[in-house]
Amino acid sequence: MAPNPSAIPRSAMASYPATESPEVRSRIYRAYRDYFDKAERKRRWNVREDIPWDQCNPGIDPAVADVVQTFCMVELYLPDYLSKQLPQVRDNRGRAWMLANWGYEESKHSLALEDWLVRSGHRTEKQMEQVADGVFEREWQLRYNHPLASVIYTMFQELSTQLNYRNLRAVAGGRCPALDKVLELVMIDEAAHAQFFRQLVGIYLEADREATLEQFRLVAGTFAMPADHLLADGHRRVAEVKALKIFDEQVFYVEVFQPLMQRLGLTRADLRRKKVVPAA
Ligand SMILES: [Fe+2]
Ligand SMILES: [Fe+2]
Repeated sequence: MAPNPSAIPRSAMASYPATESPEVRSRIYRAYRDYFDKAERKRRWNVREDIPWDQCNPGIDPAVADVVQTFCMVELYLPDYLSKQLPQVRDNRGRAWMLANWGYEESKHSLALEDWLVRSGHRTEKQMEQVADGVFEREWQLRYNHPLASVIYTMFQELSTQLNYRNLRAVAGGRCPALDKVLELVMIDEAAHAQFFRQLVGIYLEADREATLEQFRLVAGTFAMPADHLLADGHRRVAEVKALKIFDEQVFYVEVFQPLMQRLGLTRADLRRKKVVPAA
């Protein structure tokens, strides 16, 4: 039996009424269909079959394995990422379907990273169970209470994540073919995510430049990767990532912030608030 909408408490329904025009939603949905069709054609991979698990090198630097665990922990917050972002976009089909598909792709990342940690002998299954339990003792919270800010944040975060995996792969230096393949596959997924969310921000900029810039300023000024404040030992883990030269503020500025500004056709002037001229 279909539920009677009037019987559903307001808080359980869309707490974020649609702000996009039908044209914008239809552009977003078309972008999602293109993304999905391409992913089905070119990017699907299998955790069990597409990684050379018989070529796991247990001799990898333990510091590299620890960063693999850090990234795995961040990926493990998937239930929070989905359950908190979906209500923001439940009545926007393109964005809601994207979150469902994005969740499937992200779910494989923690599986592959965890499998590598166990198969390479750097962690036991028991240890990984404890890691997962520890992760769920904390809860990821939405950083921005606005669906437009969320998509901008996700754009920054996905490109940052791609670079984290790319640079970890470079540090690992191909000494473990299994890890190399895991990081390559995950990195390619993250690049596709970053590209899709950038495309979305471009659509929003065209549709409502001022509202999008307002949220862009907010996110650009307050951006932080989840690991820092989310994980119990986040500060130590972020410091380890910096020490290995995988990701830091400089990488963010030069390889995330600046290229995204450029690709979106934005300048510093766009990030300055317009002065309100008082009426004479
Ligand atoms: Fe991921
Ligand atoms: Fe991603």
